[in-house]
Amino acid sequence: MAILITGGCGYIGSHTCIELLDAGHDIVVLDNYYNSKPEALRRVKELSGKEFPFYECDIRDAEGLRKIFAAHSIEAVIHFAGLKAVGESVQKPLEYFDNNVGGTITLLEVMREAGCKRMVFSSSATVYGMNNPSPLKETMPTGGVTNPYGRTKFMIEGILEDLCVSDPEWTAVLLRYFNPIGAHASGRIGEDPNGIPNNLMPYISQVAIGKLQKLSVFGNDYDTHDGTGVRDYIHVVDLAKGHVKAVEYAMKHPGAEAINLGTGTGYSVLDLVNAFQNVNGVPVPYVIAPRRAGDIATCYADPSKAKELLNWTAELDVNDMCRDTWRWQKQNPNGF
Ligand code: NAD
Ligand code: UFG
Repeated sequence: MAILITGGCGYIGSHTCIELLDAGHDIVVLDNYYNSKPEALRRVKELSGKEFPFYECDIRDAEGLRKIFAAHSIEAVIHFAGLKAVGESVQKPLEYFDNNVGGTITLLEVMREAGCKRMVFSSSATVYGMNNPSPLKETMPTGGVTNPYGRTKFMIEGILEDLCVSDPEWTAVLLRYFNPIGAHASGRIGEDPNGIPNNLMPYISQVAIGKLQKLSVFGNDYDTHDGTGVRDYIHVVDLAKGHVKAVEYAMKHPGAEAINLGTGTGYSVLDLVNAFQNVNGVPVPYVIAPRRAGDIATCYADPSKAKELLNWTAELDVNDMCRDTWRWQKQNPNGF
């Protein structure tokens, strides 16, 4: 029996492959390389010392998926594959709905045909929308998302919940990630964004290495301790370990369950800049810029449900996140 990892060549997927292999699971990986490179999985094999089957396949390709399910006995799917750039999704909504929502429906149809009815899904704290106060709890209302990317996550959560109602054999664990950053401690795998990064941590590390001149801090007039936006940054290796726990939970508990994966602690933009500078001894020049449209002041998790159901809590702190990001950046200045 094996676990199928869609999008397993990407940032969170590649780290999760390592943790699954270390925990003794057999995996099968698929990716269409839209936002990743084969080198990532070569390094996963190098780090884990294990081999596993890989398929270059799109989740919208039902025939391609059928071949994978025919060739392997898949007991659960961890579904990372998707497009994730918020700004791009505003420009290309149809591409986002087709890839993320359409692709997930095709995948679920093929899973059902194959009798595999367990999915761990990469959702996002973005489903909590703009109006819930932090700490965010799974019992709070979702929706009110402000962009097509976020809407795809909200819609897929709903599809999975409806599926679990329709057939009690289905299991769906909806993992709501907060802000994943950091890299594997080896410095061999990490986040490899295309072009100029949209997210804070890859931007900081590219400023630190001199690829970008300075960071723009988007707003310093929020109602937070220093005026800059507060987020719940979580080390990608902790996040990956959360997936191992989640898929093991899914083997035993049918039904749909939304679970936050965050640390429960918020750091501001300037907290993160200062931590990065202090831990790594490198300057990160920045300027204060206007607020970015769609941003909220504060977003952090109540992670108690993950502790209760999965016996999972984040173990690595913001210094580990900064140190590991910098090691990856220095060792791989041009990514994979
Ligand atoms: P990523 O882009 O590094 O990984 C996604 C992978 O999916 C890539 O390797 C890409 O090539 C692949 N992919 C995309 N569309 C595909 C398709 N149609 N068929 C097959 N493969 C396809 O992104 P990531 O940061 O590792 O994110 C993984 C998942 O977690 C995504 O669904 C993302 O939306 C979600 N998520 C990420 C964050 C974050 O901040 N990184 C936050 C919340 C949720
Ligand atoms: N920020 C800057 N300058 C930058 C980039 C970001 O000041 O160059 C600030 C933002 O304003 C925000 C914080 O840094 O206050 C974090 O921004 P990110 O873009 O890194 O992350 P977001 O919280 O905006 O978004 C992330 C993911 C989304 C996901 C969301 C869920 O990128 O995919 O978390 O809460 F939907």
